[in-house]
Amino acid sequence: MAMIKGSRGHWSGKMGFILAAAGSAIGLGNIWKFPYMTGVSGGGAFVLIYLVSILIIGMPIMMAEIMIGRHTQKDPIGAFKSLKSGPYWLIGAMGILTTIIILSFYSVVAGWSIHFLYEAIFGFSGSDASIQNIFSNLYASGLKSSLWHTVFMLMVVGIVLGGVKNGIEKWNKILMPSLFIILIILMIYSLTLDGAPKALSFLFKPDFSKITPQIVLDALGQAFFTLSLGVCMMVTYGSYLNKDSNLPTATLTITALDTMIALIAGIVIFPIVFTFNVEPTQGPGLIFCTLPVLFAKMPGGYIIAIAFFTLLLFAALTSGISLLEVSVSYLIDEKKFSRKKATLSAGIAVYILGFLSAWPEIKIGKTTFFDIFDKLATNITMPLGGLLITLFAGWFISKQIKQDNLPKVFSSLGLDIWNFLIKYITPAFVFIIFIAKLYELIF
Ligand code: PHE
Repeated sequence: MAMIKGSRGHWSGKMGFILAAAGSAIGLGNIWKFPYMTGVSGGGAFVLIYLVSILIIGMPIMMAEIMIGRHTQKDPIGAFKSLKSGPYWLIGAMGILTTIIILSFYSVVAGWSIHFLYEAIFGFSGSDASIQNIFSNLYASGLKSSLWHTVFMLMVVGIVLGGVKNGIEKWNKILMPSLFIILIILMIYSLTLDGAPKALSFLFKPDFSKITPQIVLDALGQAFFTLSLGVCMMVTYGSYLNKDSNLPTATLTITALDTMIALIAGIVIFPIVFTFNVEPTQGPGLIFCTLPVLFAKMPGGYIIAIAFFTLLLFAALTSGISLLEVSVSYLIDEKKFSRKKATLSAGIAVYILGFLSAWPEIKIGKTTFFDIFDKLATNITMPLGGLLITLFAGWFISKQIKQDNLPKVFSSLGLDIWNFLIKYITPAFVFIIFIAKLYELIF
């Protein structure tokens, strides 16, 4: 492999990259956030806008990010530095900081999933109210949340310590296929439930009267989060890729897998919700408060509950490792740290920051750090990062570089369409989301 420079890691092949990048994209965003947001936002109309956003915004940005990484073979800061002198490396720096912030609260939610897996193994039983209280008690207890946050961070650090091929790739190759299998089994089960037809029409029959500006913004923001965009995550994973990989096909595959998994997660959850006549509008507690109560009543619910929370943990783990790898790659490339020193330093920083989100008593004014970090990342730095990346790729990366990085079959028409999207259309859309989100945040 001619591209190997120094001690930088590389994927063993295309499949390794695709699984790892899909592993990053497929996470709590698909199985926890997508269903509850669809529930809150009235179903099909939200799903439709989400799909359109993925096509117009998600895919072009993803391809730009992977190209920047693969072309430069560098960490986010090094990548921008080597493409253009000036302050552009700040885009990479903002991405790195954002991944640290995201992982710090992501790990707390992932920790809750481990707690629910543990509860599921002992079986959800008792009154509906007592099952619902599992989540409120967990959320209220900083100590318990911190404990599970610790367990999750230990797993993430353990995997990232193994490196690109023998840690990240190896674990994605185990966890992702397992995730697919569990999800398919759960889907088949859910489709046999009485609530399945109602669930399918809720998800796939858009009611256009439900579309509001807020729903459009939420769908766009969700598209960003779920595809891991705007934080140079795809730059980092792309930098471990060889020149012989086909970027448009890779982008299409990763996006299709991510979208499919989000939709299937909806097909798993909503039939359960509708079978028991529960309102789908529960919000963030949908899978932690509502589902366990239903699992306790369902035939086979014991096994289904264990499978579901295992799935959630696997999904969170493959995204968690990608979030940590962004800062690890920076420390290795720019600061010349060994992988061990880089992983431990970044891991410990994230771990400590995570306590702020684990303890709901720690607040600024009335807002918890969990909310501050979540809003800061998803509403500000992710869209801003995405906007800057698409503008940078559209205006500053030469056509020659783009041509060199795309396969011949992509044709000059494909290149022109993509270039037009990342120069004008995608930034315009992201700009609108960004301003609207900022407006929402301030007022
Ligand atoms: N895409 C992940 C999810 O859906 C979250 C994530 C965001 C991961 C940004 C990496 C970078 O859960």
